Amino acid sequence: MHWFAGLEAVCRTDVQLRHHTWYRLGGPARWFLTPRDETELIEVLRRCRAHHIDWRLLGRGANVLVRDAGFDGAVIHLTGPFWEAVRYEGATVHAAGGALFHHLVKDTLKRGLCGLEALAGVPGSMGGIVRMNAGGKYGEIAQFVREVRVIEPDGSTGARARAAIGFRYRHTDLDGCTVTHVVLDLALGDAAAAQARFKTIWKEKYASQPPLSVRSAGCVFKNPTGQSAGRLIDQAGLKGCRIGGAEFSTIHANFIVASPDATAADVINLMQLAKDRVRSATGLELQAEVEIW
Ligand code: EPU
Repeated sequence: MHWFAGLEAVCRTDVQLRHHTWYRLGGPARWFLTPRDETELIEVLRRCRAHHIDWRLLGRGANVLVRDAGFDGAVIHLTGPFWEAVRYEGATVHAAGGALFHHLVKDTLKRGLCGLEALAGVPGSMGGIVRMNAGGKYGEIAQFVREVRVIEPDGSTGARARAAIGFRYRHTDLDGCTVTHVVLDLALGDAAAAQARFKTIWKEKYASQPPLSVRSAGCVFKNPTGQSAGRLIDQAGLKGCRIGGAEFSTIHANFIVASPDATAADVINLMQLAKDRVRSATGLELQAEVEIW
Protein backbone atom coordinates (compact mmCIF):
# COMPACT_ATOMS: atom_id res chain seq x y z
CA MET A 1 0.00 0.00 0.00
CA HIS A 2 1.34 3.45 -0.85
CA TRP A 3 1.84 6.20 1.71
CA PHE A 4 -1.07 8.30 0.44
CA ALA A 5 -3.66 5.48 0.53
CA GLY A 6 -7.10 7.00 1.05
CA LEU A 7 -5.87 10.39 -0.17
CA GLU A 8 -5.86 9.50 -3.89
CA ALA A 9 -8.50 12.14 -4.63
CA VAL A 10 -6.01 14.85 -3.67
CA CYS A 11 -2.73 13.27 -4.77
CA ARG A 12 -1.27 13.17 -8.28
CA THR A 13 2.14 11.92 -9.32
CA ASP A 14 4.78 13.45 -11.60
CA VAL A 15 3.17 16.84 -11.83
CA GLN A 16 5.12 19.47 -13.77
CA LEU A 17 5.86 22.25 -11.32
CA ARG A 18 6.57 24.71 -14.10
CA HIS A 19 2.82 25.16 -14.45
CA HIS A 20 2.71 26.36 -10.85
CA THR A 21 5.56 28.87 -10.64
CA TRP A 22 6.09 32.33 -12.04
CA TYR A 23 9.38 31.19 -13.53
CA ARG A 24 7.67 28.33 -15.40
CA LEU A 25 10.95 26.39 -15.12
CA GLY A 26 12.08 23.08 -13.70
CA GLY A 27 10.94 19.49 -13.52
CA PRO A 28 8.13 17.55 -11.87
CA ALA A 29 7.13 16.86 -8.30
CA ARG A 30 7.05 13.16 -7.51
CA TRP A 31 3.79 13.74 -5.62
CA PHE A 32 1.54 16.79 -5.78
CA LEU A 33 -1.10 17.10 -3.10
CA THR A 34 -4.02 19.49 -2.89
CA PRO A 35 -5.69 18.90 0.49
CA ARG A 36 -9.14 20.48 0.53
CA ASP A 37 -9.24 21.64 4.13
CA GLU A 38 -7.23 21.73 7.32
CA THR A 39 -8.13 18.21 8.44
CA GLU A 40 -6.92 16.79 5.14
CA LEU A 41 -3.76 18.92 5.29
CA ILE A 42 -2.96 17.71 8.81
CA GLU A 43 -3.34 14.12 7.59
CA VAL A 44 -1.08 14.72 4.57
CA LEU A 45 1.61 16.21 6.83
CA ARG A 46 1.23 13.35 9.31
CA ARG A 47 1.80 10.80 6.53
CA CYS A 48 4.83 12.69 5.25
CA ARG A 49 6.36 12.60 8.71
CA ALA A 50 5.49 8.96 9.30
CA HIS A 51 6.95 7.87 5.94
CA HIS A 52 9.95 10.26 6.03
CA ILE A 53 8.83 11.96 2.87
CA ASP A 54 10.48 15.26 2.11
CA TRP A 55 7.82 17.90 1.43
CA ARG A 56 7.49 21.53 0.42
CA LEU A 57 4.58 23.87 0.63
CA LEU A 58 3.88 25.67 -2.62
CA GLY A 59 2.04 28.98 -2.46
CA ARG A 60 1.59 30.87 -5.71
CA GLY A 61 5.10 30.05 -6.88
CA ALA A 62 6.14 33.69 -7.00
CA ASN A 63 9.43 33.17 -5.18
CA VAL A 64 10.38 29.60 -6.07
CA LEU A 65 12.80 28.19 -8.60
CA VAL A 66 12.40 24.45 -9.22
CA ARG A 67 15.50 22.62 -10.40
CA ASP A 68 15.40 20.93 -13.81
CA ALA A 69 15.40 17.48 -12.17
CA GLY A 70 12.24 18.42 -10.27
CA PHE A 71 11.50 17.70 -6.64
CA ASP A 72 11.71 14.09 -5.44
CA GLY A 73 9.15 14.43 -2.67
CA ALA A 74 5.69 15.78 -1.95
CA VAL A 75 4.62 19.25 -2.96
CA ILE A 76 1.58 20.49 -1.08
CA HIS A 77 -0.50 23.19 -2.73
CA LEU A 78 -3.26 25.06 -0.92
CA THR A 79 -5.94 26.15 -3.38
CA GLY A 80 -9.73 26.03 -3.56
CA PRO A 81 -12.48 27.67 -1.54
CA PHE A 82 -11.26 26.67 1.93
CA TRP A 83 -7.72 27.91 1.36
CA GLU A 84 -8.64 31.11 -0.42
CA ALA A 85 -11.34 32.29 2.01
CA VAL A 86 -11.17 35.84 3.35
CA ARG A 87 -13.43 37.25 6.06
CA TYR A 88 -13.71 40.83 7.26
CA GLU A 89 -14.52 42.03 10.76
CA GLY A 90 -14.31 45.82 10.90
CA ALA A 91 -10.71 46.70 10.10
CA THR A 92 -9.54 43.15 10.81
CA VAL A 93 -8.95 40.69 7.98
CA HIS A 94 -8.97 36.91 8.45
CA ALA A 95 -7.35 35.28 5.43
CA ALA A 96 -6.65 31.62 4.77
CA GLY A 97 -3.08 30.71 3.81
CA GLY A 98 -3.77 30.21 0.11
CA ALA A 99 -5.52 33.55 -0.45
CA LEU A 100 -4.10 35.43 -3.42
CA PHE A 101 -2.38 38.42 -1.88
CA HIS A 102 -2.71 40.97 -4.65
CA HIS A 103 -6.47 40.33 -4.86
CA LEU A 104 -6.68 40.79 -1.11
CA VAL A 105 -4.84 44.11 -1.32
CA LYS A 106 -7.28 45.42 -3.95
CA ASP A 107 -10.27 44.14 -2.02
CA THR A 108 -9.22 45.81 1.23
CA LEU A 109 -8.77 49.12 -0.59
CA LYS A 110 -12.23 48.83 -2.17
CA ARG A 111 -13.65 48.32 1.30
CA GLY A 112 -11.95 51.48 2.56
CA LEU A 113 -9.34 49.64 4.62
CA CYS A 114 -5.92 51.22 4.58
CA GLY A 115 -2.43 49.82 5.04
CA LEU A 116 -1.78 47.19 2.39
CA GLU A 117 -1.42 49.80 -0.38
CA ALA A 118 2.21 49.95 0.85
CA LEU A 119 2.64 46.44 -0.57
CA ALA A 120 1.28 47.26 -4.04
CA GLY A 121 2.61 44.87 -6.66
CA VAL A 122 3.87 42.19 -4.25
CA PRO A 123 2.75 38.80 -5.61
CA GLY A 124 2.14 35.52 -3.77
CA SER A 125 -0.12 33.61 -1.41
CA MET A 126 -1.03 35.01 2.01
CA GLY A 127 0.92 32.26 3.79
CA GLY A 128 3.99 32.71 1.59
CA ILE A 129 3.92 36.49 2.04
CA VAL A 130 3.93 36.11 5.83
CA ARG A 131 6.51 33.33 5.90
CA MET A 132 9.09 35.41 4.08
CA ASN A 133 7.90 38.77 5.45
CA ALA A 134 7.46 40.04 1.91
CA GLY A 135 7.40 43.73 1.17
CA GLY A 136 9.35 46.55 -0.38
CA LYS A 137 10.50 50.07 0.17
CA TYR A 138 7.20 51.26 1.64
CA GLY A 139 6.48 48.49 4.08
CA GLU A 140 6.39 44.80 4.81
CA ILE A 141 3.62 42.47 5.89
CA ALA A 142 4.97 42.27 9.49
CA GLN A 143 3.48 45.71 10.21
CA PHE A 144 -0.05 44.36 9.79
CA VAL A 145 0.02 40.85 11.22
CA ARG A 146 -1.74 40.31 14.56
CA GLU A 147 -1.35 36.53 14.60
CA VAL A 148 -1.16 33.44 12.43
CA ARG A 149 -2.47 29.92 12.80
CA VAL A 150 0.11 27.33 11.90
CA ILE A 151 0.80 23.65 11.76
CA GLU A 152 4.15 23.33 13.49
CA PRO A 153 6.89 21.02 12.15
CA ASP A 154 5.87 18.36 14.73
CA GLY A 155 2.27 18.42 13.48
CA SER A 156 0.77 20.32 16.40
CA THR A 157 -1.52 23.21 15.55
CA GLY A 158 -1.86 26.53 17.28
CA ALA A 159 -1.80 30.30 17.05
CA ARG A 160 1.38 32.33 17.05
CA ALA A 161 1.10 35.96 18.05
CA ARG A 162 3.15 38.45 16.10
CA ALA A 163 5.95 38.46 18.73
CA ALA A 164 6.38 34.69 18.30
CA ILE A 165 6.75 34.91 14.52
CA GLY A 166 10.24 36.43 14.58
CA PHE A 167 9.70 38.91 11.77
CA ARG A 168 12.87 40.35 10.23
CA TYR A 169 13.98 41.43 6.77
CA ARG A 170 12.54 38.83 4.35
CA HIS A 171 12.62 36.16 7.05
CA THR A 172 10.64 34.76 9.99
CA ASP A 173 10.85 31.86 12.43
CA LEU A 174 8.17 30.01 10.44
CA ASP A 175 10.52 27.67 8.55
CA GLY A 176 8.97 24.21 8.49
CA CYS A 177 5.59 25.61 9.60
CA THR A 178 2.49 25.66 7.46
CA VAL A 179 0.60 28.92 7.75
CA THR A 180 -3.08 28.08 7.57
CA HIS A 181 -4.64 31.42 8.58
CA VAL A 182 -3.50 35.00 9.00
CA VAL A 183 -5.12 37.81 10.98
CA LEU A 184 -4.26 41.32 9.77
CA ASP A 185 -5.08 44.60 11.47
CA LEU A 186 -5.70 47.37 8.96
CA ALA A 187 -7.08 50.87 9.54
CA LEU A 188 -10.27 52.64 8.57
CA GLY A 189 -8.97 55.81 6.98
CA ASP A 190 -8.88 57.96 3.88
CA ALA A 191 -9.76 55.36 1.24
CA ALA A 192 -9.19 57.69 -1.72
CA ALA A 193 -5.71 58.60 -0.48
CA ALA A 194 -4.86 54.92 0.05
CA GLN A 195 -6.01 54.06 -3.48
CA ALA A 196 -3.95 56.91 -4.91
CA ARG A 197 -0.90 55.74 -2.96
CA PHE A 198 -1.42 52.19 -4.27
CA LYS A 199 -1.35 53.50 -7.85
CA THR A 200 1.75 55.63 -7.23
CA ILE A 201 3.70 52.77 -5.62
CA TRP A 202 2.59 50.34 -8.34
CA LYS A 203 3.72 52.74 -11.09
CA GLU A 204 7.03 53.46 -9.40
CA LYS A 205 7.72 49.77 -8.96
CA TYR A 206 6.98 48.84 -12.52
CA ALA A 207 8.96 51.76 -13.91
CA SER A 208 12.05 50.37 -12.15
CA GLN A 209 11.42 46.61 -12.54
CA PRO A 210 10.70 44.26 -15.43
CA PRO A 211 6.97 43.97 -16.25
CA LEU A 212 4.88 41.15 -14.76
CA SER A 213 4.54 39.60 -18.22
CA VAL A 214 8.26 38.74 -18.11
CA ARG A 215 9.15 35.45 -16.43
CA SER A 216 11.04 36.03 -13.17
CA ALA A 217 10.72 35.40 -9.44
CA GLY A 218 11.16 39.02 -8.39
CA CYS A 219 14.44 39.88 -6.72
CA VAL A 220 16.70 36.83 -6.63
CA PHE A 221 18.96 38.06 -3.78
CA LYS A 222 18.23 39.73 -0.47
CA ASN A 223 19.67 43.19 0.01
CA PRO A 224 22.80 43.03 2.21
CA THR A 225 22.39 45.43 5.17
CA GLY A 226 22.53 49.01 3.94
CA GLN A 227 23.11 47.95 0.33
CA SER A 228 21.07 47.16 -2.77
CA ALA A 229 21.79 43.77 -4.32
CA GLY A 230 20.56 45.16 -7.65
CA ARG A 231 23.05 48.01 -7.57
CA LEU A 232 25.91 45.66 -6.54
CA ILE A 233 25.16 43.28 -9.43
CA ASP A 234 24.83 46.23 -11.78
CA GLN A 235 28.16 47.69 -10.60
CA ALA A 236 29.75 44.26 -11.11
CA GLY A 237 28.89 44.77 -14.79
CA LEU A 238 26.35 41.97 -15.02
CA LYS A 239 23.25 43.84 -16.22
CA GLY A 240 22.17 42.15 -19.45
CA CYS A 241 24.64 39.28 -18.92
CA ARG A 242 23.17 36.03 -20.17
CA ILE A 243 23.70 32.29 -19.66
CA GLY A 244 21.61 30.12 -21.96
CA GLY A 245 18.09 31.51 -21.84
CA ALA A 246 18.44 33.46 -18.58
CA GLU A 247 19.57 37.07 -18.27
CA PHE A 248 20.11 39.72 -15.60
CA SER A 249 17.38 42.20 -16.42
CA THR A 250 18.57 45.34 -18.15
CA ILE A 251 15.95 47.23 -16.13
CA HIS A 252 16.86 45.95 -12.65
CA ALA A 253 19.88 43.71 -12.13
CA ASN A 254 18.45 41.83 -9.13
CA PHE A 255 15.92 40.21 -11.46
CA ILE A 256 16.96 37.23 -13.58
CA VAL A 257 14.50 36.97 -16.42
CA ALA A 258 13.87 33.75 -18.34
CA SER A 259 13.22 33.41 -22.07
CA PRO A 260 11.31 30.41 -23.49
CA ASP A 261 14.49 28.33 -23.93
CA ALA A 262 15.78 28.93 -20.38
CA THR A 263 16.48 26.13 -17.92
CA ALA A 264 16.58 26.33 -14.14
CA ALA A 265 20.31 25.58 -14.38
CA ASP A 266 20.81 28.76 -16.44
CA VAL A 267 19.27 30.81 -13.63
CA ILE A 268 21.26 29.00 -10.94
CA ASN A 269 24.50 29.49 -12.89
CA LEU A 270 23.80 33.21 -13.24
CA MET A 271 23.13 33.43 -9.50
CA GLN A 272 26.51 31.79 -8.82
CA LEU A 273 28.21 34.19 -11.21
CA ALA A 274 26.69 37.19 -9.37
CA LYS A 275 27.74 35.80 -5.99
CA ASP A 276 31.32 35.30 -7.20
CA ARG A 277 31.61 38.70 -8.90
CA VAL A 278 30.07 40.64 -6.02
CA ARG A 279 32.22 38.78 -3.47
CA SER A 280 35.44 39.51 -5.32
CA ALA A 281 34.49 43.18 -5.91
CA THR A 282 33.16 43.98 -2.43
CA GLY A 283 33.72 41.05 -0.07
CA LEU A 284 29.93 40.84 0.42
CA GLU A 285 28.20 37.47 0.34
CA LEU A 286 24.87 37.70 -1.52
CA GLN A 287 22.13 35.52 -0.10
CA ALA A 288 19.35 34.09 -2.24
CA GLU A 289 15.87 35.46 -1.67
CA VAL A 290 14.35 33.05 -4.17
CA GLU A 291 13.88 29.52 -2.81
CA ILE A 292 15.53 26.81 -4.88
CA TRP A 293 13.85 23.39 -4.75
N1 EPU B 1 19.89 50.02 -8.66
C1 EPU B 1 20.89 50.06 -9.59
N2 EPU B 1 20.90 49.11 -10.58
C2 EPU B 1 19.97 48.14 -10.65
C3 EPU B 1 18.95 48.09 -9.68
C4 EPU B 1 18.93 49.05 -8.68
O1 EPU B 1 21.75 50.93 -9.57
O2 EPU B 1 20.06 47.32 -11.57
C5 EPU B 1 19.84 51.07 -7.63
C6 EPU B 1 18.61 51.94 -7.78
O3 EPU B 1 18.82 52.98 -8.71
C7 EPU B 1 18.38 52.44 -6.38
C8 EPU B 1 18.88 51.29 -5.51
O4 EPU B 1 19.69 50.48 -6.34
O5 EPU B 1 19.16 53.57 -6.14
C9 EPU B 1 17.75 50.47 -4.90
O6 EPU B 1 16.94 49.94 -5.95
P1 EPU B 1 15.35 49.78 -5.82
O7 EPU B 1 14.75 51.05 -5.39
O8 EPU B 1 14.87 49.16 -7.06
O9 EPU B 1 15.15 48.81 -4.60
P2 EPU B 1 15.78 47.41 -4.29
O10 EPU B 1 16.42 47.51 -2.95
O11 EPU B 1 16.63 46.91 -5.40
C10 EPU B 1 13.71 46.46 -3.01
C11 EPU B 1 13.11 45.08 -2.88
C12 EPU B 1 12.12 44.85 -4.01
C13 EPU B 1 11.05 45.92 -3.98
C14 EPU B 1 11.74 47.28 -4.14
C15 EPU B 1 10.79 48.47 -4.15
C16 EPU B 1 14.71 43.46 -1.99
C17 EPU B 1 15.70 42.42 -2.32
N3 EPU B 1 14.17 44.09 -3.03
O12 EPU B 1 14.48 46.47 -4.20
O13 EPU B 1 11.51 43.60 -3.75
O14 EPU B 1 10.11 45.72 -5.01
O15 EPU B 1 12.66 47.46 -3.04
O16 EPU B 1 10.06 48.55 -2.98
O17 EPU B 1 14.43 43.69 -0.81
C18 EPU B 1 11.41 41.26 -4.17
O18 EPU B 1 11.50 41.12 -2.94
O19 EPU B 1 11.25 40.28 -4.94
C19 EPU B 1 11.51 42.60 -4.72
C20 EPU B 1 11.58 42.82 -6.01
